[in-house]
Amino acid sequence: MSHACKLAAGNWKMNGLRANLDEARALAAAFPDPKCGILLCPPATLLATMRDALSGTAVMVGGQDCHAQSSGAHTGDISAGMLADAGARQVILGHSERRADHAETSAQVAAKASAAHAAGLVAIICIGETEAERDAGKTLDVVLSQLADSLPEGATSANTVIAYEPVWAIGTGRTPTIEQIAEVHDALRAALPDAGISLLYGGSVKPANAAEIFAITNVNGALVGGASLKAVDFGAIIAALEGAPD
Ligand code: PGA
Repeated sequence: MSHACKLAAGNWKMNGLRANLDEARALAAAFPDPKCGILLCPPATLLATMRDALSGTAVMVGGQDCHAQSSGAHTGDISAGMLADAGARQVILGHSERRADHAETSAQVAAKASAAHAAGLVAIICIGETEAERDAGKTLDVVLSQLADSLPEGATSANTVIAYEPVWAIGTGRTPTIEQIAEVHDALRAALPDAGISLLYGGSVKPANAAEIFAITNVNGALVGGASLKAVDFGAIIAALEGAPD
């Protein structure tokens, strides 16, 4: 039995205008007293307004990235302290789209996670293999080395969450088998310094597959992209997590 907290985290990616805040409000109204953590990570432009829209509800807001420095000449970037000031409690770091589009390395992810911790944010650190790496039989090597290199000093269950997201499953509608998810999550659990760190699965989680994914030992929740944009879909996933065994 795991002592890790359950978390359903929604990653809106580069989607969402003020009109879409109604989805966040509807989600919060559907879960006044949830049995798991609920987090929405909108684009930075919506963070403060979403925080205000969700004021007094159980739904937290978070960022999708932060800079490793606390301030300075970094045009277009956002510091962890700025996210916290806007109401964020958590920040997604090292998402595969950041690693691919912005050539982020695991060392940079670790530095960002340290900055997040210093600002009082929980770092949700993403790792995952490409399809070529899986086909070459390198999945565990890849995710374990990403984990080792992306985890900062001082990572604990109070300040860190790990999300396993196979790159080939993100936004594709394809998911690993139950056995494949279990194999990676068991290896991550064994490698983590703190048994309470929550382990999320991410990659094409939908209402239709959420319950079987959440039934896997060492899966403590999900990082959800496309299906987090609609309250009805994300709500069905959250309900599956609430009903999953501890
Ligand atoms: P998806 O994205 O649920 O749309 O596959 C997951 C993610 O990138 O976090």
